[in-house]
Amino acid sequence: MVNFSTSFLLWLSLSLIHGYNVLVMAQCPSGGPAKFYDFKVQTTRVAKLCTSKDMVTINGMFPGPVIYAQEDDRIIVKVTNETPYNTTIHWHGVKQKLSCWFDGPSYITQCPIQAGQSFTYNFTMVKQKGTFFWHAHVSWLRATVYGALVVYPKTGVPYPFKVPYEERILILGEYWLQDVVQLEHETVASGGPPTPANAFTINGHPGPNYNCSNNDVYQIDVVSGKTYMLRLVHAGLNVESFFAIANHNLTIVEADAEYTKPFTTDRVMLGPGQTMVVLVTADQPQGKYSMAMGPYMSAKGVKFQNISSIAYFQYLGAVTNSFTLPAKLPSFNDNLAVKTVMDGLRSLTAPVNVPRKIDSELFITIGLNVQKCHSKTPKENCQGLNNGVMAASMNNISFVKPKVSVLEAYYKRINGYFTEDFPGVPKKFYDFVNGAPNSIPNNTEAILNGTRTLVLEYGTRVQLILQDTGTVTTENHPIHLHGYSFYVVGYGTGNYNPQNASFNLLDPPYMNTIGVPVGGWAAIRFVADNPGVWFMHCHLDIHQSWGLGTVLVVKNGKGKLESLPHPPADLPQC
Ligand code: C2O
Repeated sequence: MVNFSTSFLLWLSLSLIHGYNVLVMAQCPSGGPAKFYDFKVQTTRVAKLCTSKDMVTINGMFPGPVIYAQEDDRIIVKVTNETPYNTTIHWHGVKQKLSCWFDGPSYITQCPIQAGQSFTYNFTMVKQKGTFFWHAHVSWLRATVYGALVVYPKTGVPYPFKVPYEERILILGEYWLQDVVQLEHETVASGGPPTPANAFTINGHPGPNYNCSNNDVYQIDVVSGKTYMLRLVHAGLNVESFFAIANHNLTIVEADAEYTKPFTTDRVMLGPGQTMVVLVTADQPQGKYSMAMGPYMSAKGVKFQNISSIAYFQYLGAVTNSFTLPAKLPSFNDNLAVKTVMDGLRSLTAPVNVPRKIDSELFITIGLNVQKCHSKTPKENCQGLNNGVMAASMNNISFVKPKVSVLEAYYKRINGYFTEDFPGVPKKFYDFVNGAPNSIPNNTEAILNGTRTLVLEYGTRVQLILQDTGTVTTENHPIHLHGYSFYVVGYGTGNYNPQNASFNLLDPPYMNTIGVPVGGWAAIRFVADNPGVWFMHCHLDIHQSWGLGTVLVVKNGKGKLESLPHPPADLPQC
């Protein structure tokens, strides 16, 4: 297996090759119990796509520094904000067992770290390993503030597959020429849809399909016959993506930091918030092959970037300026390609420890809404469909972030910032997928706005059906739950019907972000055994801005190690 120090050196040399400033302060990576990192949130001038702009980075790096650790390690990251923007960092996929205070979503578990302030995140990778990532969790800063978090198995514990020759991280992203904080403000204020990204990127590089980007391209040099482990991370904002390598198969071995049965395919789909590890063998004639990231857009009538980002899979020994073999991506609306990948995701071992008896059956609809225009300046503020205002909701409630963090309000019993009445089922059951046509005079409004949370007793065995709706347009939504991973026990198209839904309780994948099929449903199961306040939301940031989220409050248990500890002393104030 790739042991920890080898990979650290590998990373170090890669960082040097790619001209990154190695400013990360890692403790000697010999597998000690704590890994220390120093994150300076900075404004950095970056040139891309024929122009340059100031953007927010960590330690001047884009993508940001990689955090390396081993299973059960403690990770301590001091985040110092040297920019004028409010910041938080979320450790996506980390369960934060009894450490909800360090989860990071702004106004859910903490107030933002303001200009000049710092906050030290401190958490343990309890029984967790694999490919994670970290990202800003405030406004749309995630567009530039993200990086990988790689957690190796404990020393001596092998991978359940052949040791790869080398490994690489590939982070998929979206890049705007505009300031992204401003972009979010403008988009929400307009009431209309978001501006598509100016480019997709792989490790921050748009690649040769874009203007001025012939040399702004990521490249992997490979040796014929060797197998490479690619850690794919989707850090994009508003679009899901297909990924493929010309003429090469991808064998999926891990999804959302959990091993899967090896599944071989020629393309994969990742939504924002998803990670996947694929093995690729350099078994083709020596040459230069493209690795491509292109859009998967299942919604109707949405404008999106359609130029794919390209990186190179370059055989050593091949002529470098040779012709690049193009990768074949599915067309942007190929729902079947998505289903095929999903069908292939099975947990490595079976049977899994999925709850069979359920205490709480939840049913949550997800989708978009168009609110009536109440603005005195409709031209500026009501640019949504039918001159309305775009919104999104769960069970018809559009989530509003409060002015202090929900966790603080909950823990300190401060009244007035949230309510505990998020409904466990929609107000009415109807033909969710086809029954709510998308034009006025039909009602496309979310019923309520509010900070409503759903409270669960410690240890509740939960089944949650997520049902996509066609209120405005059906769409595949990557729904992410903080604080937990869950078993995806079923999914399908159309309306969920318990009579004919078939569940896999044997080897379902264990994930933290589920792409609920367009015009369909997904069923997930988990045991609510991690006390705290956990955000559940669509990982398409525009939908999150529009209110597609809710909060699960999980109460303390009665036993030892079943209670949330006190907040850290340096917890940021609002
Ligand atoms: Cu990756 Cu709430 O986020």
